[in-house]
Amino acid sequence: MPPTPAAPAALAALIRPDAVHRDLYTSPDLFALERRHFFANTWQYVVHASQLPAVGDYVTVDIAGRPLVAVRDADGAVRVLMNRCAHKGARVVSAPSGNTGAFFRCPYHAWAYDLDGALRAVPRRDGYAGTRMPTCEAGRGLVPVPHVRVYREFVFVKLSDHGPDFEAYFGEALTSIDNLVDRAPAGRLEITGGALRFMHDCNWKLFVENLNDTIHPMVVHESSAGTAKRLWSERPAAPGTPVPMAVEQFVPFVSGYEFFEATGLRVLPNGHSWSGAKGSIHSAYTAIPEYEAALVAAVGAERAHAILGTVRHNTVCYPSLTLKGAIQTIRVVRPIAVDRTLIESWTLRLVGAPDALLERSVTYNRLINAPFSVVGHDDLHVYRAIQQGLHADGNDWVSLHRDWTADETDPVDRTVGGLSELSMRNQYRAWLHFMTLSMAGGAP
Ligand code: FES
Ligand SMILES: [Fe+2]
Repeated sequence: MPPTPAAPAALAALIRPDAVHRDLYTSPDLFALERRHFFANTWQYVVHASQLPAVGDYVTVDIAGRPLVAVRDADGAVRVLMNRCAHKGARVVSAPSGNTGAFFRCPYHAWAYDLDGALRAVPRRDGYAGTRMPTCEAGRGLVPVPHVRVYREFVFVKLSDHGPDFEAYFGEALTSIDNLVDRAPAGRLEITGGALRFMHDCNWKLFVENLNDTIHPMVVHESSAGTAKRLWSERPAAPGTPVPMAVEQFVPFVSGYEFFEATGLRVLPNGHSWSGAKGSIHSAYTAIPEYEAALVAAVGAERAHAILGTVRHNTVCYPSLTLKGAIQTIRVVRPIAVDRTLIESWTLRLVGAPDALLERSVTYNRLINAPFSVVGHDDLHVYRAIQQGLHADGNDWVSLHRDWTADETDPVDRTVGGLSELSMRNQYRAWLHFMTLSMAGGAP
């Protein structure tokens, strides 16, 4: 990590109650500090355990510049290890995913490790007799990530010892993961297919803020969703013609301000939030009776009604996991540089549900989230416009004033109108807290 001096007071000066300094989006020094402090002190999403069905299955991921590997151990547990050979530091596993068998083997000098990281074998071991190797760092093998939590098969890590434990950190935000899993008649999800990887040439915060920014869709998506809506309305169709799935998914994006205000916004401590607290753009999708019947058969009518009646829009499990329970997709935020962020969109299958539901999820991900989507490029265009516009002189501040009230406190725990910018102000209070938590003189 670069020896950037950390100064909590200087960082606090970048966050006003109702605005943030442009450096948050443009400063490479701040990005280096985020990697060292913020991303290490917050819980990060790694992988879904369904991606590791067999012993030896692994997925590699970089989080805040640290190469990690998640692997299914022989005892069934998911381990997350630093992907760094204990010998001279090579990444032990290079492929994005695969099966390593019963052990890892470094490609350089063939040091081998058990699936929990313990050093298993070293060629010509006699050469180390009488040396310190077996008792120092090298002899301990691959370093386990200090904090790993598997919550309903969603695997999270925290890289530092600072900050709250998993439940305290996410709190009520976990109910969005619950709702997503509970929608499966068999009570289980499976990742289906690979990630749709969409590189965004902007700071990661622009994407995360936007997920609960419901005052933009009717403007930004007029070009895509608005066009779909217009074309469908102008098309002569016999009464009773079913609305195509794509049209059904596009049209709500260009709903009016009143619609989004009424959907509400739930804002929670530690930067978490969800839009669609009282209904969302997903609420009016055509029912799939065989799915509802399967869920009723599995959990009973009352419980099924409660599960399906929770139709949230975007939930931000701040800062790296965002999910849409009602459409069974997640988007994972992988910051790469101050102005470069990889967004991975994954499709989840509800185990025990008919394929019609999966078709809806796949269609949504393709139309809205994929790098070849229509709607996603609208957002990327404005992210780029901001990333470039912030270099202009004369105004260092990004306005987050909308619906600010003087009684806003930290931690926030409120449900407000859907158009509020409270979720963003809340994110930046959390950002400052977790950024300075591990600095001398920082947050307690
Ligand atoms: S660097 Fe891995 S065995 Fe030498
Ligand atoms: Fe958007």
